[in-house]
Amino acid sequence: MEINLGLACNCRCLYCPSMPEPERRFAPRDEVVAEIERAASRGIEEISFSGGEPTAFPDFESLVARCRNLGCAVGISTNGLLLEDADRLAALIDAGLTRVGISFNGSDAAMEDRIAGQAGAFGRKQAALDNLLRVQDRLPGGLKVKWVLHRKLLSGLEAAIEGMHRRGVPVQGFNLIRPVPEMGSGLAAYVPRVEELRRAIRRAAACNELEWHANFAFLDVPPCCFPWEVLADGELERRYRGHAYEREITQFYEQGPQRAPWRTERISTLKSKAAACRDCRLNGSCEGIWNGYLALFGEREFDTAPAFVEACLSGGRA
Ligand SMILES: C[S@@+](CC[C@H](N)C(=O)[O-])C[C@H]1O[C@@H](n2cnc3c(N)ncnc32)[C@H](O)[C@@H]1O
Ligand code: SF4
Ligand code: SF4
Repeated sequence: MEINLGLACNCRCLYCPSMPEPERRFAPRDEVVAEIERAASRGIEEISFSGGEPTAFPDFESLVARCRNLGCAVGISTNGLLLEDADRLAALIDAGLTRVGISFNGSDAAMEDRIAGQAGAFGRKQAALDNLLRVQDRLPGGLKVKWVLHRKLLSGLEAAIEGMHRRGVPVQGFNLIRPVPEMGSGLAAYVPRVEELRRAIRRAAACNELEWHANFAFLDVPPCCFPWEVLADGELERRYRGHAYEREITQFYEQGPQRAPWRTERISTLKSKAAACRDCRLNGSCEGIWNGYLALFGEREFDTAPAFVEACLSGGRA
């Protein structure tokens, strides 16, 4: 299960869906502890913390230790800034941290610092990643680099993947940017179109098959936005198309903790289908497209998608 600790954060990523500034606070500690205890009593094996920034939660180590004492493994999604301190990372692992996903916005300092809204973010994340790579054997749940897949990353995508792979990063995930209104007028510049996605994924998959043999996948990218070469080949499709798994997520509001099935909720509230999707062979299993994408670019881009999917899956060349 996942616990969202609240929206307080030491970054200001420009496309983060977190609420506006005054509402960026952490949940009350006693409510979080009660939620941990409730999860453990229900036999939950791993608690994953998100936010906001979990490592910035006051005395986060004690929450991790509480989980461990109750027999739960502990994961975090983090921007990594505070893990540039190797002693802080060691303390979290000593307390019981077992799995880390570290998030990246950019493949160079200018891009990362601009998007994270924080000068020096890139350097601090690199230092954190070095620290994490050094203690990988103490993270039995694994280490993952989580990229936001946005338009400005696409031209450097191959270098980004290869660079991480050569450093020893075992798994990389690319989460397709969800266009959020908070981004304002700069939104479109960060959102890749279907054809751009296909081209970028095609190049990355081809390099990987020929050379790198790295482990990476694309999440929240609908099947029809994958290139023909991947969608038509079952093995490649399984390798590169990431899947969201269902889990319960707890968020804290004025009226107390609210629990929801994370995957179901985001499909029903954040994604939609285009009109053309009703003719698609994958309509039943596809999660759909971010609402924000359809709001930005309209549905017409998906008019030919069902025929493309059909051609891929029936062995024809699209
Ligand atoms: C909201 S953050 C919270 C945890 C932590 N602060 C972090 O950055 O990992 C959770 C994940 O959402 C990603 N993210 C933020 N804004 C996004 C967007 N508009 N579309 C897709 N992913 C996004 C982040 O990169 C991060 O991997
Ligand atoms: S670090 Fe995470 S929570 Fe903080 S602004 Fe960036 S994406 Fe949002
Ligand atoms: S259902 Fe729609 S979004 Fe999903 S793969 Fe088919 S055409 Fe694409």
